[in-house]
Amino acid sequence: MAVTAPTIARLSGVHHHFDGAVVLSDVALQLGAGEVVAIVGPSGCGKTTLLRIVAGLISPARGDVTRPEREIGFVFQEPALLPWRRVEANARLLAASDDDGIVEQLLSVSGLTEHRRKWPYQLSGGMKMRLSLVRALAARPRMLLMDEPFGALDSITRNRLHDEFATLHKSRGFSALFVTHAIDEAVYLADRVLVMSEAPGRIVREFTVPFARPRTSALRYSPEFASLCGAIAESLHELAGGA
Ligand SMILES: Nc1ncnc2c1ncn2[C@@H]1O[C@H](COP(=O)(O)OP(=O)(O)OP(=O)(O)O)[C@@H](O)[C@H]1O
Ligand SMILES: [Mg+2]
Repeated sequence: MAVTAPTIARLSGVHHHFDGAVVLSDVALQLGAGEVVAIVGPSGCGKTTLLRIVAGLISPARGDVTRPEREIGFVFQEPALLPWRRVEANARLLAASDDDGIVEQLLSVSGLTEHRRKWPYQLSGGMKMRLSLVRALAARPRMLLMDEPFGALDSITRNRLHDEFATLHKSRGFSALFVTHAIDEAVYLADRVLVMSEAPGRIVREFTVPFARPRTSALRYSPEFASLCGAIAESLHELAGGA
């Protein structure tokens, strides 16, 4: 595995099952300090379960997990907002008291400034997801775990948030492990892309992303980018039993 930085989280020999059905089988992964790692895999293969195990929200049936004790941020697949707090108060929920600047910056870049007085029920699905992301990033986590954080967004907002995420990552240096169904997103954001098999999920392939940072949108249209996305798509297709 191409991790050179000190490891911030590590899983080895992790197995998990729900109601007797094996969901994860012998999963090993490590996340280096400051590293961004993406996980892709078929629906139901155990990606969310794996992320929850890394976060410590689930104890695996077997296996070893090490993670930072504190400062773990989590963006859930379903936006988890406090319905009795307005957008602005949700965004500030986990931010340090002297952190006004970052909340404002994040609200602005995610297009939520003008909606700051709304209640969560008044937001669209994509806006709720953006707010969940803002809240997690405002806490300045050491390790950020994200479950399809950009999935519900239109492509313009999505690409803008990708670049903002990369800028924040550069300035803060947190580690991030995220799940996505979008291969181009995995390649644009990550240092490594891990491919999971169909359930019971295992990590069966690993792709190192060689592109220098900062990455710009021109990269998305380059042949090298398309070629790596194609190789990852092919490995997913093979896993699904395709020719
Ligand atoms: N709390 C639970 N109780 C019982 N079964 C569960 C629970 N959570 C997940 N599962 C089952 O575990 C398997 C993996 O679920 P998981 O949510 O981890 O998949 P996923 O890879 O994140 O899928 P998707 O891409 O659709 O989000 C599924 O068969 C799911 O039904
Ligand atoms: Mg999931």
